[in-house]
Amino acid sequence: MRTFFLLGVLAATGCGGDPDATTPPDVTDDTPFIALQRDFQSFSSWEHFHLEGDGNGTPHTGGNRDIYINKRPPKGATQFPTGTMIVKRTDGVGDPENGGPRTFAMVKRGGDYNKAGALNWEWFELIQSNPDDASSPWQISWRGLGPPVGGQYGSNDGGCNGCHGQGVANDYVQASVLQLSTLAR
Ligand code: HEC
Repeated sequence: MRTFFLLGVLAATGCGGDPDATTPPDVTDDTPFIALQRDFQSFSSWEHFHLEGDGNGTPHTGGNRDIYINKRPPKGATQFPTGTMIVKRTDGVGDPENGGPRTFAMVKRGGDYNKAGALNWEWFELIQSNPDDASSPWQISWRGLGPPVGGQYGSNDGGCNGCHGQGVANDYVQASVLQLSTLAR
């Protein structure tokens, strides 16, 4: 009703252009997406990729890991859309200094968040409320522009933004299985 009314007014005042015009397809919804704890609860049921460790000793690719994504980008996308959530869970085997299994996430928040780093992405670490119970709820251990002191993931002073800046051409996402050229199809 409201749309018809508005179009009627615009047409009547002569400043609305074509009264049959619909919303142009290039108008994007840029409302930021603030992920909440509940949004992560079912990540283990999202599309997921299992990657075997390459044994090179780094916590990022050295161990076995699973990467989950809540939705693939649309065909031909050159960026991950706002609302994209990616979770990476390392099994921690052979990596005692990083405290066993770790679960990290990056969420496309939008709104020019993280302007000095991985633009529009927010970083997270998730923990299970009962580490001994695989069905216990997930909690956000920290979130933001990077980890708090002591929350690092491997030794890197640049926090999460440092390494992930190397993936700028793929919208700061680094895993081979998450390249937009193959994922957005
Ligand atoms: C020393 C470099 C380095 C640092 C520091 C780093 N990462 Fe990564 N990260 C990587 C690499 C390399 C990959 C892709 C490797 C893989 O798993 O195949 C990756 C993958 C990821 C992924 C899966 C999506 C993707 O980009 O492929 C998430 C989520 C992630 N990292 C979160 C974090 C968070 C959160 C932090 C900060 C606490 C962090 N990373 C710090 C190197 C790093």
